[in-house]
Amino acid sequence: MISIRGLRKRFGDFTALDGVDLDIPAGSVHALLGPNGAGKTTTVRVVTTLLDPDEGDAVVAGHSVRRDAHRVRSSIGVSGQYAAVDEKLTGVENLTMVGELYGMRRRDARARAHELLRDFRLDSVSSGKRAGQYSGGMRRRLDLAGAIVSRPPVVILDEPTTGLDPRGRRDTWEAVRQLSTAGTTVLLTTQYLEEADQLADAISVIDSGRIVAEGTAADLKARAGGAAIDLVLEKASDGPRALELVAARCPAAAIDDRGLRITARAPGGSADLSAVLASLAEERITPGEAALRQPTLDEVFLRITGDRASAAADEVAVLGPEAVIA
Ligand SMILES: Nc1ncnc2c1ncn2[C@@H]1O[C@H](COP(=O)(O)OP(=O)(O)O)[C@@H](O)[C@H]1O
Ligand SMILES: [Mg+2]
Repeated sequence: MISIRGLRKRFGDFTALDGVDLDIPAGSVHALLGPNGAGKTTTVRVVTTLLDPDEGDAVVAGHSVRRDAHRVRSSIGVSGQYAAVDEKLTGVENLTMVGELYGMRRRDARARAHELLRDFRLDSVSSGKRAGQYSGGMRRRLDLAGAIVSRPPVVILDEPTTGLDPRGRRDTWEAVRQLSTAGTTVLLTTQYLEEADQLADAISVIDSGRIVAEGTAADLKARAGGAAIDLVLEKASDGPRALELVAARCPAAAIDDRGLRITARAPGGSADLSAVLASLAEERITPGEAALRQPTLDEVFLRITGDRASAAADEVAVLGPEAVIA
């Protein structure tokens, strides 16, 4: 449904997109994941015909952004990081206005507005309340609803949850899932691996205008070394022996300066954690805390880009290379 080939965009001397390729099948949710300045919004602006590429092309629902921008625009709904909602209007008025802009008759636009407010759980607040009085999460959902008034086959969302509180984020995720269930193809950008994990069928990681990795969230976590073990010992005197036992099972075992906190990769997941705890218990070492956790986005980027300097992950700084056994 969306096919991007060799997209390049320069701003003066600065290369914002350096050959981006993407393929998004119909009905799927695709996340473009990357840090600030990676090129996410630039990609979205090209795909939505707001910006001409220097090289390459994006084909949306069969239409090229270069040759057929008008048809592309009529195939997509767009919702931005900065919600395009008229604060002086109520929810119904906002969505009805969007419908009329798309050429719907007033009656039909109003009916569609009510339907969407119900779907996005905004109907209880819509009566009389102006959008200016909505919470951040409600505004974002209203903006999302606006993107699909005309039932476009493709919806493009640029950082739909950035700046939202946890409740607003969950509500927005729910709204994206509803789009997907209805068969809409979704391209969304995000800075959060967890968000891509929650929503996307496939993820492309973008960094400095290039796609540096592709796959499912599980693929990306596995490339970052999979799950990790975190142990906090009660006594520093247990440290050296505990570290040996962890290292016997898990790669990259390391202990912190205080000799209390041990971390290691756990490619075997919870089986590794159980085995480590059992071998510690045999020697009567009982950690005060023991956890299995997924790699953070920082760790994923660190691995994928191989750029150790940029992602100043606390652990790397604290542990130092000399503490690493395996
Ligand atoms: N109109 C512009 N003029 C100059 N530089 C730009 C312009 N738009 C974006 N950039 C630069 O291109 C890079 C990518 O920006 P952007 O696509 O907005 O990143 P993201 O959305 O991933 O945070 C950034 O370094 C940004 O400063
Ligand atoms: Mg952006």
